[in-house]
Amino acid sequence: MNVLLTGGTGYIGSHTAVVLSQLGHEVVLYDNLSNSSDAVLEKIAQIVGQDFPFVRGDVRDTELLRNTLASHSMDAVIHFAGLKAVGESVAKPVDYYANNVQGTISLLQAMQAQQVKSLVFSSSATVYGQPQYLPLDENHPTSATNPYGRSKLYIEEMLKDVASSDHGWRIACLRYFNPVGAHQSGLIGENPNGLPNNLMPYIAQVAAGQRSELGVFGDDYPTNDGTGVRDYIHVMDLAEGHAAALDFLTKTTGWHAINLGTGKGYSVLEMVGAFERASSRKVPYRMTSRRAGDVAECYANPKRAGELFKWTARRSLDDMCASTWRFQQSVELGGS
Ligand code: NAD
Ligand code: UFG
Repeated sequence: MNVLLTGGTGYIGSHTAVVLSQLGHEVVLYDNLSNSSDAVLEKIAQIVGQDFPFVRGDVRDTELLRNTLASHSMDAVIHFAGLKAVGESVAKPVDYYANNVQGTISLLQAMQAQQVKSLVFSSSATVYGQPQYLPLDENHPTSATNPYGRSKLYIEEMLKDVASSDHGWRIACLRYFNPVGAHQSGLIGENPNGLPNNLMPYIAQVAAGQRSELGVFGDDYPTNDGTGVRDYIHVMDLAEGHAAALDFLTKTTGWHAINLGTGKGYSVLEMVGAFERASSRKVPYRMTSRRAGDVAECYANPKRAGELFKWTARRSLDDMCASTWRFQQSVELGGS
């Protein structure tokens, strides 16, 4: 299949490009490089042994997207491109709605013009808001507590309308839980600019000695050790989930929401312990106050993905930590 990956040079996009290419798909990457670097192109080419066509462009450039879909005879699109920092979305809501919602409208216009009607969308477990029960299944009510989450929710609703308007559309909204880890080569991974927002890259930088200690956001949650619990999923499992989603869309039409998670939650302190084991380094930490907007526990019911995609996450927490550490060390040696 010929597949366009918007946001393809980003963290999840680059790992998905590797998996799809190794399965024999023709992949084209499209990205404005606002949160990634074209150095990634060389790394993924090194992993799979062939170059990837790359178009530098914004998803809000409908004409460029339309030309890209046409010139590469695309069959499907995986839409990763977007902004993703919750805190920043509160400060800059217009940027978030412009990149995420307007960007998706532009993509849909280009797809409609070219009659490309298969779409996999990067949604998030954030659309479940404050969990009313656990594990979270796809029928859990949706809500949003910040502009980032709201942008994902609006896009999901928009895509539902598109699918009901024309039964030729095939749309999968993948609700990711907490993607972590890196490709086993250590060549690609998550390398955020500045202070990491997320737990795993922060732990990795503390283990590497780049930061002195981890602040643990709250030790008074009603969990086993008082710290927040999340469903961490290896980015390579997630990438394989996208390949399974594409396959599923060849056999069905309509709009579908599917969780991509493991079904198992780990606390912040369990993550620290696992990383210390994988890296043989100490990760000093200090308890601090809760972060606004955080929930105590969030983990998936991954049953639907198993049934519809015949996919299940298979990599362990140790794999997640070991691959993150390998990538962190390659970054220190001057990698991207
Ligand atoms: P990322 O920032 O590494 O990748 C996103 C890519 O999109 C970047 O390369 C960026 O340059 C590009 N981009 C942003 N705006 C663009 C625009 N207007 N036009 C073209 N390119 C643009 O993020 P990621 O972690 O790979 O996330 C990919 C998707 O998955 C995002 O939509 C994100 O919201 C979603 N998601 C991520 C997580 C997570 O924890 N990483 C969790 C749930 C959902
Ligand atoms: N945490 C710390 N210290 C840190 C960073 C995080 O203790 O320095 C804790 C948090 O309080 C939370 C856990 O580690 O308990 C995980 O936090 P992350 O920021 O890594 O992940 P979140 O679950 O808060 O959010 C992530 C993405 C969201 C996405 C959500 C669900 O950042 O965009 O997963 O997919 F919506």
